[in-house]
Amino acid sequence: MEPNRKKDLITFDDWSKDEIIEIIGLSAELKEKRRRKEITNWLVNQTLFMIFYEQSTRTRNSMEAAMTQLGGHAHDLTADKMQISHGESPKDTAKVLSRMGESIAIRNCFYGIGNKYLHQIAHHSDIPLISMQDDIYHPLQVIADLMTMQEYYGENLSGLKVAISWAYAESHAKPLSVPQSQILLFPRFGMDVAIAHPLEFPLQQDIIDKAVENAQRNGGSISFTDNMEDAISGADIVIPKNWGGFAHFDHFIDDEQHYQIMRHNLQKYKHWILDSKKFSLAKSDAKIMHALPADRGKEITDELLDSPNSIIYDEAENRLHTAKAILAMLMR
Ligand code: CP
Repeated sequence: MEPNRKKDLITFDDWSKDEIIEIIGLSAELKEKRRRKEITNWLVNQTLFMIFYEQSTRTRNSMEAAMTQLGGHAHDLTADKMQISHGESPKDTAKVLSRMGESIAIRNCFYGIGNKYLHQIAHHSDIPLISMQDDIYHPLQVIADLMTMQEYYGENLSGLKVAISWAYAESHAKPLSVPQSQILLFPRFGMDVAIAHPLEFPLQQDIIDKAVENAQRNGGSISFTDNMEDAISGADIVIPKNWGGFAHFDHFIDDEQHYQIMRHNLQKYKHWILDSKKFSLAKSDAKIMHALPADRGKEITDELLDSPNSIIYDEAENRLHTAKAILAMLMR
């Protein structure tokens, strides 16, 4: 990365592969330093403004802990604590925060709004803008996924079969951003990604097109099926994940009507759960990943999520180390 140039993180598709590899290397270094209880005061007196429009456990706490461990401070903000709730413009918000701190991070997953809002803030901000998830991308999750995969399978992930399967859930609206970021990034590292979903729960076509392009350029592959078992068959890694349950799609007329359509569609696919019968189709030593929070007993059985094949807590822990690496790289 060029020194003294403001760089944002909205999607890793805007970052080179070398930059991503650098982040993973720095994350591993920071993980080791934490294990050895070494002090890493790299961001002393620096401030990160975190603005959450939605709930968060992993992102909020990994980012705040990351800033503390790097010697700086994170403001844990919500839109309703700020004049954003009275309509203050993205320009004024970005300009003011730029005068007071060193980075802005935002989670805004509202469909059709979140990504656009982040781009507006990034445009007007003089300091880096980091996405903590929007309606299209979740870069902080997917970089932790990649680090976790390399810890288990080594640096060369070419030929690894990753099954990403839509799964039933009803706890809350789970965005498209995790699977979309995964299908964009994993093929850049040569992985073969098989995606399964019912026809009613597609990913965005422009993201699929870009993912196919990434696969063609880097030796990975992307395939789609509407059969969960087909995707899981022979997989090294299985990721059961709900998306789009109550999402905004183009064909609805008003919110209530849309909600009822999605509710009806959702109920048809309660059998899309990762259980031991389906998982037995994967390789015998296959790993299970999940960004969390998981709908236990709906997306995946407790038996599998708590099994030795599950590496979900390593994946969650790596949110901290990768967050530290990203903050250090963008703010130092
Ligand atoms: N995976 C993830 O982003 O978790 P949170 O919603 O808890 O931040």
